Amino acid sequence: MADRILRIGVLGLSRGFVLMRPTFVADDRCRLVAAADPRPEARAAFQAEFGAPAYETAQALCADPQVEVVYIASPHQFHAEQAILAARHGKPVLVEKPMALSLAECDAMQAATRDAGVQLIVGPSHSYDPPIACAADLIASGAHGALRMIVMMTFTDFLYRPRRPEELDTARGGGVVFSQAAHQVDVVRRLAGRPIRSVRAQTGAWDPDRPTEGAYQAFLTFEGGATATLSYSGYGRYDTDALMDWIGETGMAKDPGLYGAARLRLAGAQEEALKRQRAYGGQAAAPPAGSPHHEHFGQVIASCERADLRPTATGVEVYADERRTIDLPPRAAPRAAVIDELWRAIVPGAPPLHDAAWGRDNLAACLAMLRSSAEGREVSLSELESPP
Ligand SMILES: NC(=O)c1ccc[n+]([C@@H]2O[C@H](COP(=O)([O-])OP(=O)(O)OC[C@H]3O[C@@H](n4cnc5c(N)ncnc54)[C@H](O)[C@@H]3O)[C@@H](O)[C@H]2O)c1
Repeated sequence: MADRILRIGVLGLSRGFVLMRPTFVADDRCRLVAAADPRPEARAAFQAEFGAPAYETAQALCADPQVEVVYIASPHQFHAEQAILAARHGKPVLVEKPMALSLAECDAMQAATRDAGVQLIVGPSHSYDPPIACAADLIASGAHGALRMIVMMTFTDFLYRPRRPEELDTARGGGVVFSQAAHQVDVVRRLAGRPIRSVRAQTGAWDPDRPTEGAYQAFLTFEGGATATLSYSGYGRYDTDALMDWIGETGMAKDPGLYGAARLRLAGAQEEALKRQRAYGGQAAAPPAGSPHHEHFGQVIASCERADLRPTATGVEVYADERRTIDLPPRAAPRAAVIDELWRAIVPGAPPLHDAAWGRDNLAACLAMLRSSAEGREVSLSELESPP
């Protein structure tokens, strides 16, 4: 048993919470003590499962003296105001990606947490995955020479999972750049260990019935000279889990026979009802605690001068003069790395990697992708610091 347990309040009993829930349950360094969500069925399910209060409003949750840390898993557009509210109540924040929808919001969140003297951590996201962290440490060690390039490719059915209306509207934070480039940028920044200098991207909105970005390609340059290409499609055709031995994003085995299932489920269905089923309190089953493999976000190959490194769902493949595999056994709590960072930031006070500045820089790269595509040119990250 941990000698210090973080008492966590959940803001937004969402699909994001469903994915994080097994970690909160399995990790003895934290305990869920309250929640808030406008949906009555979600509140009832939380009260029944955890025997703890579930409020209608963020204000009530933040005011609860039992709540020590606020985990924000509400839709993107609420992240900024809720993080600021938590900070004003003197509570550290764990906020889902993307940190917010604009750099001004990120700045306000950073200022509020700094003024309150509390930590803000952005997570979970795929740079916490142990194979990514292991590959990043190998790169940073210089054992295989300098990092030169990264190739990252993720093909999913993201756009055909049930969505709220704003998730299909880029102006309100919808589309795969805000939701999924947030992971790819996070991963390649962790591997490169250097700031992004510029972005050239082309985004695609190919389905008029779901009129937001469903795909993109981007070319990133890093300070120090390394580069990365990011390819993403959420159109539910090819699936990069095929390259990961049919282990899905959450580390669970995936059935390749379910081809096209997301589009089929959506056809003719009430999208809002489907969405509720997948969120907490709905009928869609939560993933069991203790995924047999690590979480991942598709194919990643990092090329150093003398080796290619490939993080997988079980470890890291190292293609140097000899080929070897680093096996990384899964931990009991699937996203334990997030709790590691949160606990260390709050208890001994160790500076977190995924702090507000980190989350802001991830968002800046995503915004640069959108601008690059709209303007048909390479965008330097420094341009985002002043209005166009
Ligand atoms: N890191 C990950 O793996 C991951 C996975 C899924 C979602 N997410 C993130 O989680 C967040 C939620 O997305 P989702 O798709 O899970 O949402 P969702 O649509 O499944 O659920 C949204 C929930 O928020 C509730 N809600 C609405 N307004 C609210 C408010 N003002 N305060 C509190 N709760 C409110 C809704 O009732 C609902 O329960 C997003 O920022 C998303 O990027 C992260």
